[in-house]
Amino acid sequence: MKQFYSTVVMPRLLDRVMGGESFAQRRRSLLSAAAGEVLEIGFGTGLNLPFYDRDRVASLAAIDPNGGMNRLARRRLAAAPFPVELRPLGGEALPYGDRTFDCVVSTWTLCSIREVETAIDEVWRVLKPGGTFLFIEHGRSPDPAIARWQDRLNPIQKRIGDGCHLNRNIAAIVQKRFPDAAIAAAYAPEFPKIGGYFYEGQALKPPTP
Ligand SMILES: C[S@@+](CC[C@H](N)C(=O)[O-])C[C@H]1O[C@@H](n2cnc3c(N)ncnc32)[C@H](O)[C@@H]1O
Repeated sequence: MKQFYSTVVMPRLLDRVMGGESFAQRRRSLLSAAAGEVLEIGFGTGLNLPFYDRDRVASLAAIDPNGGMNRLARRRLAAAPFPVELRPLGGEALPYGDRTFDCVVSTWTLCSIREVETAIDEVWRVLKPGGTFLFIEHGRSPDPAIARWQDRLNPIQKRIGDGCHLNRNIAAIVQKRFPDAAIAAAYAPEFPKIGGYFYEGQALKPPTP
């Protein structure tokens, strides 16, 4: 039953809910900076695909461990204007060499990765020096009253959201590995505060001297 929920119900639900216009605007804005050899972690149903700039992106490697997400995503791959390779994997152990990608992308995924700090270490490892990690995520509110509710509701959210955490401090997690990451954090006005505190950022892996 849990497997059915995770691989059949969730992908369809997520595709519908996260395919909306307010997500689209945020995807467009973030992904306009993606260029070169790109890796996307937590590819989901492939909703970012139309927002990559065909003139800037050379190829896309995409990973997501959920086979149901992969199934829906594959329907979108044929329309991609650059080569895309989708693999059914988690972000904690990437099968790519060190310094492979110009850019790594994560959209609303760091909430769901079980070993999120390991995944960030992997992002760092596979980025080329001078490469960029682009992300937009929801996470922990700076308002203590909201954060307390996020902590209380987190166990329920993890169940209904297939592993999604409400209360992760995304800035702290990313900045542990990318101390100079530029992060803008604010409530998205169209969402309830409990799930609508968004962290959007660009983290540069410094070029080697
Ligand atoms: C809320 S969805 C977001 C999907 C997509 N990034 C988007 O913007 O539409 C979270 C995604 O993280 C994926 N995920 C869960 N555990 C993961 C892991 N360990 N590594 C990478 N992705 C993971 C889920 O399968 C799901 O597709």
